[in-house]
Amino acid sequence: MIQPGNYVRDLLRREPGAAVTACGWVKTRRDGKNVHFIQLNDGSSHTDLQVVVDEGVVPPDVIARVTTGASLSVEGELVASPGKGQAVELKARSLVIHGAANPEEYPLQKKKHNLETLRPLGHLRARTNTFGAVFRVRNALAKAIHRFFQERGFLFIHAPVISSSDAEGAGSMFQVTTLDLEIGKPADFADDFFGRRTFLTVSGQLEAEILALAFANVYTFGPTFRAENSNTPRHLAEFYMIEPEMAFCNLNDNQDLAEAFLKSQIEQVLSECRPDLEFLSKWYEPELFKNLEGVLAGPFERIGYTEAISHLQKSGRNFEFPVEWGCDLQSEHERYLTEELLKKPVIVTNYPREIKAFYMRSNDDGRTVAAMDVLVPRIGEIIGGSQREERHDLLLSRIREQPGIKEENYEWYLELRRFGGAEHAGFGMGFERMMMYLTGMKNIRDVIPFPRTPGNAEF
Ligand code: 4AD
Ligand code: MG
Repeated sequence: MIQPGNYVRDLLRREPGAAVTACGWVKTRRDGKNVHFIQLNDGSSHTDLQVVVDEGVVPPDVIARVTTGASLSVEGELVASPGKGQAVELKARSLVIHGAANPEEYPLQKKKHNLETLRPLGHLRARTNTFGAVFRVRNALAKAIHRFFQERGFLFIHAPVISSSDAEGAGSMFQVTTLDLEIGKPADFADDFFGRRTFLTVSGQLEAEILALAFANVYTFGPTFRAENSNTPRHLAEFYMIEPEMAFCNLNDNQDLAEAFLKSQIEQVLSECRPDLEFLSKWYEPELFKNLEGVLAGPFERIGYTEAISHLQKSGRNFEFPVEWGCDLQSEHERYLTEELLKKPVIVTNYPREIKAFYMRSNDDGRTVAAMDVLVPRIGEIIGGSQREERHDLLLSRIREQPGIKEENYEWYLELRRFGGAEHAGFGMGFERMMMYLTGMKNIRDVIPFPRTPGNAEF
């Protein structure tokens, strides 16, 4: 096992003279006169460790098997490197091949692969430079998120994955059952495992509200599932969502927190993963740093839905989805607002109540609710949230208006409004949407190790 201090990342920073053992997978091998150069990486660093093997140190039949993809451990001494790009290199004294990778068969030879070709190779693609960078950023982003909330005193909570409530009231849920469902035979969910109908959660929000009304500031960070049949580059059937929920909080506080949250994540990941982001920017998104630094540069724009609609109508654009007051904003509308019109992140608030979830707080105008969506260039919606309806009777009548919602499933939710309820608000950020924004990847399938989309659940 690799001990702390011995990852490739650490070895590259150590002084010459140390006797070390390095483990990893071969990126490439180059043969010089009487010497072999191996680029070795254990996934910890964008830069490989250069291993120098003098002729005679290892038998020729062993060196011949040191090919791209093979796993090795090399014992030797770190020496000052005459080559550029690294301060030290490893001069091998001995070398063990743990697993060879036949070059006739191993699919990841040294050349640029396109991302579509790599997708079916989910078991191998993590070894490429691109996915090395992406998954290191993913780790740094998760850490940055926890740090942001922990430093603010938020309590990390786990919402259930199996749930009996449809948090979004949108009906795009995967059912969880142990019943043997026969076509044509009506299922009696009273006989089911949980004695009722259950689903994979679409959001941990309703449970987060329970805990926010005990701990004031809480957040979830867990998997969520949506059975929308949308085969787009921005949708997954299984994705991670971060949902902060705050008591004694209104829509303005909610917007302030969302803005500080996005900026903090970008700052932290820029400082931790610069070499990875430079690589990703070079190959995938030349504007990456300009975009990210643009987010940090100033305050986000904040506009009402009604104002957004009038901007869209005045744009002179021929949108695929026509724009009128009452319509939901489509990706093309969101991107026009943030990329072209305002050229920065935008928070759109106060949407028509007909197009938003039942739990959002009604505004005094009677036709809008205290919703907010945060839109960023290249992605569109990255955060969705709202102030919640804390007034019992208004919430009850809203639940009764929804044809798909059973009142008896929400008794506990209503009770939170009867016993110690408080003004409260929160939002959800799609972790993979943020990953796309940070890495410049254009397809959400390339920022999660094992994407689940319609028709795809390999591994
Ligand atoms: O806007 P959404 O549907 O909001 C909620 O679920 C609220 N309950 C959140 C809350 O207030 N606590 O989803 C929130 C975010 C979206 O803005 C988007 O970034 C992401 O989740 N998201 C998806 N990401 C990937 N694939 C999907 N199918 C997604 N659906 C939503
Ligand atoms: Mg939304």
